[in-house]
Parts: sequence; structure tokens; C-alpha cells
Amino acid sequence: MSVASLPRSFQRIRDVARQECKNLTLAELMRGTRPDVDSRIKAGRWLHQQLPIRFARRIEDFLQLNHLVVCNPHIGNVLDAYLETFDAITAHREIVTPYDESQFCELIRKQNTLHGPGTQLIAEGYKEVQQMYSDIQLDDFLNTFFTSRIATRILMDNYVEMREPKPGFVGVVRQGMRPSELVRNLADPLVVLTTSVYGDAPSLEYRGNGDTRLDYIPRHVGYMLRELLKNALRATVERHKGKSSQIPPVVVELQQGDVHVIIKISDCGGGVPKHIQEKAWKYGWTTAAGDEDLTPWGEWSSGSAAQKRAKDLAGYGFGLPLTRLHAQYFGGDVFMQALPGHGTDMYLLLTHLKEGTSSTEIDDLSATLYSREQAGQLPR
Ligand SMILES: Nc1ncnc2c1ncn2[C@@H]1O[C@H](COP(=O)(O)OP(=O)(O)O)[C@@H](O)[C@H]1O
Ligand SMILES: [Mg+2]
Repeated sequence: MSVASLPRSFQRIRDVARQECKNLTLAELMRGTRPDVDSRIKAGRWLHQQLPIRFARRIEDFLQLNHLVVCNPHIGNVLDAYLETFDAITAHREIVTPYDESQFCELIRKQNTLHGPGTQLIAEGYKEVQQMYSDIQLDDFLNTFFTSRIATRILMDNYVEMREPKPGFVGVVRQGMRPSELVRNLADPLVVLTTSVYGDAPSLEYRGNGDTRLDYIPRHVGYMLRELLKNALRATVERHKGKSSQIPPVVVELQQGDVHVIIKISDCGGGVPKHIQEKAWKYGWTTAAGDEDLTPWGEWSSGSAAQKRAKDLAGYGFGLPLTRLHAQYFGGDVFMQALPGHGTDMYLLLTHLKEGTSSTEIDDLSATLYSREQAGQLPR
């Protein structure tokens, strides 16, 4: 299916979007995560029935956007991927035999890969749209889109993972992971990236309880830490580069609280002026230099390698809002304590995803979004 064939399929998408979306908490998902064939068939059937509803609802959201937005090739690519997944899953036969199930799992694996670049494409597309039409603000759409994306990726990843259980994991959830290891693995490549853009970079220092443990989805923790570290590294080097004194380090402190694991990332990057502290959480808001290579769509220029590295470090204005969305998804949060003229402390609070804890009992937000929209609580 493609955008061009939409008029024909639109009624079907509408019908599916209006079907009942069944909620599944993370705790229920974890309980059903077993590798035996009956559990896999049950999970496969559930997804076969439920995923098209979630994809149809997002397709409807896309189609209600300003035409200028959907015409952007990057955003159009994401819509095409949603249409393709909707089509592929609804065209798949009923899951009856183990063979049907393994075929379906292969399909889900393939569709997951197709959606891999989705965040990057939306960020790229939104940047282009805003450069041409600065009054187009899509914060509500993007919040709904990314919340649903987090939810459906958890469902799809978990299903793919459950057939080959890995020690220390329940599906996508890693038990007893050590955030300190994750930070150390992220640090070196990010320092290299910062150096390649600015010619210099701060070092990282570690404090607190290095043995802090957390049950969580590693991809989520990695994403949030990477975004916060990039911001701290960039702010520090921009403020101290070329000065005779040494660049002060970025300090990462871990603490094991009763309810949360607390990760504090402190920099001496000059902080964020008070009047822009709120704006910094908006999608697309950035103080990174614009790239001249960004041409109106249709003539997309790939840019030099140096520009690509700079854009990998900062420039889309998606790091803070998406970090907050991920943290809040399971009842955690992220706070900014900025001391203008000095530096910034970012506090990331993450709740353990352990069965029996309240963070695993929250609703599957891809199921609840639509009813809230219908009830008029979310702007459409
Ligand atoms: N630690 C920090 N110190 C100073 N400014 C920051 C810090 N973190 C974020 N900011 C400000 O918030 C803006 C938005 O950050 P983000 O959403 O990560 O987007 P990006 O990094 O692509 O600009 C940054 O451009 C910067 O101006
Ligand atoms: Mg950033």
C-alpha cells in the first residue's frame, strides 16, 4: 500500500481504527513471555488482531495533519512505513499452526526493522517543515506519535525476543542491569564524536554508587543517557573551548533510591537561561547552529561527513522531549536544574520494572491514547 492508494483503503483503515483496542500492562506482557509454542501462538494471535488497530489510529492522525507536513519526504516515508505494516499484518493469515506463528514472527521482525529509522526521519522532516513554515507546531501530534511508537515497539520487540530467552532478560526487560556499565560504554564514542565536531571534549567522571542495579529496557536507558550526555558534552565544550584553563569534566552520579534509580548528569556548560528553560522541552527547539546544506525538500543534500557528525551530536531538538517521554512512560521523570552562567544538573529518575511494582501496572498507552482523543482530552 502507498499514500497514492489511500482513497481505496481509507474506509478500511477507519473501520479498523474504531475497533476495540485491548490494553496490556507490562506486567501482563512479562507474565505471558514464555518460549513454548502455545504461548507464542497466543501472543502472535493477540498482536495479529491488535497491532492493525494501533497502526490504523496513527495513520488517521497523519492524515489529519497539514498537507505541507505529510508532503515532506521524510515524514511521508514514515507514513508509508505505517501503511505497509498495516497492510502486511492484516494480509497475514490466521495464526493456527506453529508454522503460521514462525512466519508471523518473521513478518514482525521485518516490520520492526522497517520502523527503525522512524525517529530520525520524523526529526529530519520536522526540522525541514519548521525551517519553511515556522508557525507549524506539532507537539501534541508528536507526543501521541512517540508514545504510541514506544508502546508498539515494546510489544513487537518483546514478541520477537520471547522465542529465544536470554539469561537475565524477561523479553525486552533486563533484570539487574548496571546503568554504570551502560554510561561507560556510551562515554567513549560520545567523547570521540564531540571531539570530531569541536576539536576537544570534556572527560567524564563517575560518582555515587557504581553498583546501582535496575530492571529496565536497556534500549530506553541507553537512549535517555545518550541524549543527556550529548547535551552536557556539547554545552561544556562550547563554553570552554579555546580557553586556557582545562575543560571541566561532565560528572555522572548514580544513586539507588528506595523507589527510583537516580542518575544525575552535571556539567559546567553555562546552564540554560531562565526564559528558555521551558522551550528547551519543545520538539524541534535547539540552539545548535543550523546547517546550510539543508535545502528545501526534493533537493535533499546529504551534507558533508562533518555536518552529519554535528547533527548526530545536536540540532534536531528532540533529545529532551523524547527523554522525558521515555522516562515518564513507566512513571519516572527527568528534571533540569540549570544555574544560568554556571552549569546544568539533569536528574533522571527511573522506576524498576519488576513484576508486582506499580510501574509495570500502568496501561499500555497505545491502547488508551485513542479513547482520550475521542473524549476530547487531547487535541487532534
Ligand atoms: N546540559 C545543557 N546545558 C545547556 N543547554 C542545554 C543542556 N541540555 C539542553 N540544553 C538546551 O536545550 C536545547 C534542546 O536540547 P535537545 O532537545 O537535546 O536538542 P538538541 O541537543 O538537538 O539541541 C539545546 O539545544 C540546548 O540549548
Ligand atoms: Mg540534545
